[in-house]
Amino acid sequence: MKILIVGGGGREHAIAQSVAKSPRADKIYCAPGNAGIGQIAECVPIGVMEFEKLTAFAVEKAVDLVIVGPDDPLAGGLVDVMEAAGLRVFGPRRNAAILEGSKAFAKDLMKKYGIPTAAYENFDDPEAACAYLEQAKMPVVLKADGLALGKGVLICRNLEEAKAGVRTIMQDRKFGDAGNRMVIEEFMTGREVSVLSFVDGRTIRIMSSAQDHKRAKDGDEGLNTGGMGTFSPSPFYTEEVDAFCRRYIYQATVDAMAAEGRPFQGVIFFGLMLTQDGPRVLEYNARFGDPEAQVVLPRMKNDILDVMEACIDGTLDRIDLQFEDNAAVCVVLASQGYPEAYDKGFPISGLERFDGAEGYYCFHAGTKREGQDIVTNGGRVLGVTAKGADLKEARANAYRATEWVSFGNKYMRRDIGKAIDEA
Ligand code: AMP
Ligand code: GLY
Repeated sequence: MKILIVGGGGREHAIAQSVAKSPRADKIYCAPGNAGIGQIAECVPIGVMEFEKLTAFAVEKAVDLVIVGPDDPLAGGLVDVMEAAGLRVFGPRRNAAILEGSKAFAKDLMKKYGIPTAAYENFDDPEAACAYLEQAKMPVVLKADGLALGKGVLICRNLEEAKAGVRTIMQDRKFGDAGNRMVIEEFMTGREVSVLSFVDGRTIRIMSSAQDHKRAKDGDEGLNTGGMGTFSPSPFYTEEVDAFCRRYIYQATVDAMAAEGRPFQGVIFFGLMLTQDGPRVLEYNARFGDPEAQVVLPRMKNDILDVMEACIDGTLDRIDLQFEDNAAVCVVLASQGYPEAYDKGFPISGLERFDGAEGYYCFHAGTKREGQDIVTNGGRVLGVTAKGADLKEARANAYRATEWVSFGNKYMRRDIGKAIDEA
């Protein structure tokens, strides 16, 4: 098979690595890819929003399967454009990717179908939002409706902060069009868990759970980022939690989308909060998480191409999804200053240490080739991942491997997986 992967971050490197393991993969292309992906795939300099060019390339190369990684092209309808050209594509169509693309849509869906989530109201008028806030319980959570790089969520401690938040989202338009509408919702407390799943429109198969660390600094301080590290499985995702989610959340979401005439094919990422009253949906994403994919996919036993094709063909009920009985931890090596201003272009050394190191992975996020060198080219640079018999061993292995590589302004959190000690 010839495969085209769309995207160029750590998630896409993890997908590419899984695809490369398949005996069915003859040729892998990645657009635009990065320096690490370039070691297992042919990178093509086409951006993820260049739908016409991506489609023409896939048609010209007679690609058998396209895998779309990031949210923007999914929400923008890349799958629809490619399908219209006769391509086979793994990922939700535009009318289903709205599950991530509009938080107001997702909340209304959950309300209509009784899927447990925080109480909320949607607003498209700042005055009405402020009037509502006058009687809302604090803290309160404000969310820009659309895609905002995971940054469109404001947690406000009091009325003043909340009103300022409405201004930021709807009047100053900090998140652009994403802030034309907003959701105001109840603040919940509890542990967060990420659960990824494969979906074929009807059937859903759950992957092993994971937990992300979204803040830039140790102790969950600092600004929100794309994710500074992950571990899988989550020790807090117990059998009881799993049973609840299977009963009230997973299949219910798939059925709700089908009932709305928006059958979902691809990956649904359930962002869950384990509250005292049981699991609640914080958010849906319509794709693999980044860096969740980096700890979940290396533990998957199935041939990823079989699973993805089953999602496209509607035969996922025949797939027995299996994960290794071990654990993985990913520590993101970032550029000092991320997620704000940072420098790039520093040469990276030590990458060869990962060659042939069984159970260790160095997923590239922001890197590029410059002559003989591989240099830093983003805020998140590498996702150093290691497996272990259990979470503690995986964490020790991952942190050991972070020392194998060096580059200018290297920064990482030192407490990825610290929660494991409390389990
Ligand atoms: P989201 O993009 O919706 O996942 O929100 C980003 C982060 O904001 C989540 O991972 C939570 O840490 C936090 N968050 C979102 N919604 C709530 C809520 N209703 N209560 C408490 N924290 C929340
Ligand atoms: N790691 C969270 C996300 O991919 O949205």
